[in-house]
Amino acid sequence: MAFALSSWRVAAVFLLAALAQPLVQGCKRSDPGGQGKPSAELPYGVHPGASPQVIAGAQAYLKYCALCHGVDARGYAADNAPSLVSTTFLESASDNFLSRGIREGRQGTAMAAYSRQFGGPLDDKEIASIVAFLRSRGPAQARIPARPSTGNPAHGQEVYDRHCVSCHGTKTQRGLAVQPWHPTFLAAAPDEFLRHAITLGRPGTPMPAFIGALQPGEIEDVIALLRSWGTPPPARPAIQHPELPKGPVLINPSGGAASFTLRDGRYVPAEQVKKALDAKKRLVIVDARATSDWYQAHIPGSISVPYYGFSRLDEIPNDAQTWVLAYCACPHHASGVVVDELRRRGFKNTAVIDEGILEWQKRKYPIESATPPAPSGSAPAPALSAPLVPLRLPR
Ligand code: HEC
Ligand code: HEC
Repeated sequence: MAFALSSWRVAAVFLLAALAQPLVQGCKRSDPGGQGKPSAELPYGVHPGASPQVIAGAQAYLKYCALCHGVDARGYAADNAPSLVSTTFLESASDNFLSRGIREGRQGTAMAAYSRQFGGPLDDKEIASIVAFLRSRGPAQARIPARPSTGNPAHGQEVYDRHCVSCHGTKTQRGLAVQPWHPTFLAAAPDEFLRHAITLGRPGTPMPAFIGALQPGEIEDVIALLRSWGTPPPARPAIQHPELPKGPVLINPSGGAASFTLRDGRYVPAEQVKKALDAKKRLVIVDARATSDWYQAHIPGSISVPYYGFSRLDEIPNDAQTWVLAYCACPHHASGVVVDELRRRGFKNTAVIDEGILEWQKRKYPIESATPPAPSGSAPAPALSAPLVPLRLPR
């Protein structure tokens, strides 16, 4: 029960934060909460009589996913996390597409790899239960015939520049909507999945239906263009039986106290943090993302305290000399959860690093990665980019 209550508190904080955000270029909804109030007994959208797997999945969803995808899974609670329950999405997404998205995440975005295989918190059974929960929220997977696009990518570029770039951006200039060229996405999304999304849109989200607005041939061309962008997903080191990485909590323990000017009493610009690090000031920096992301790349000296597990906060000294800064990718939500918890525990000098780690990396500020603990036991780690099971359609 304690678990459920704290999850709801966390979720409520995000709903408020998301509601306070302005609409940006029509790509964000202002009402991420959707209709209906969550019931105290059962997570949002779960009916009495749901299977134990669906209920377990809903609870895991609240703890790990609602932060960004919303309590109702309709998306847009943080960053531009998409809806996971729109009708056209659930109709076309195979279980493999869903579980692979959760397992491997989308490297370079706020979507972390949640599988233990990569240092995330979830085992395959928990991932399957989240998939079952999402499935319970919408239509079953539809029978969509496999049909590779025969379009022309050069023509597709014209269509893309006219109709898609305003929301999806380009490979080098990210737009607000999901990245349809992301290699991990393309590796899991067959052409019929892309065709379904482009033709029928994603009801309840900013993604319009292009049926009627584009000729079928133009839709084929733009699919061919997206496909032509698909490079193999970047290799990701497998981590077996990950334990929370242990390392010193303090950066520059004998350095002087830092001093920062905060925006809104809460946010510290990345530039000030970089300067304090260069001046060897005494600091604690907390990486609030899933631990898998910390393994991949983090601010040197930062410790992993993911938004879903606070155990390492007990090790942080609470004194006037030590600033405790938190960051994430999305770029405030996960770090905001950790800073709220620190403040609740009475820490005086705390702040969220304003721009988040994606901007930190863009500016080429220092970053390091961690060597995952050596695999224990004899079972070999599963292949990283395991060959995909073909889109499974109901008979
Ligand atoms: C910190 C924010 C954040 C959290 C927490 C998060 N996601 Fe995501 N998720 C995203 C973003 C952002 C994207 C889109 C990435 C992109 O730009 O391509 C995404 C994409 C996805 C996708 C792919 C959807 C599609 O249409 O291709 C799935 C599936 C998904 N998330 C499931 C989950 C699940 C399940 C959890 C919890 C275990 C979770 N996410 C937690 C931010 C988050
Ligand atoms: C007004 C903004 C907007 C425009 C214009 C737009 N999209 Fe989207 N698109 C989105 C958003 C937002 C999503 C994610 C919706 C959700 O929450 O499921 C999306 C989703 C998608 C998806 C599914 C991705 C996934 O991960 O499931 C594909 C494919 C896609 N768009 C392709 C296109 C193409 C091709 C065009 C141009 C012909 C286009 N979009 C135009 C906003 C837009």
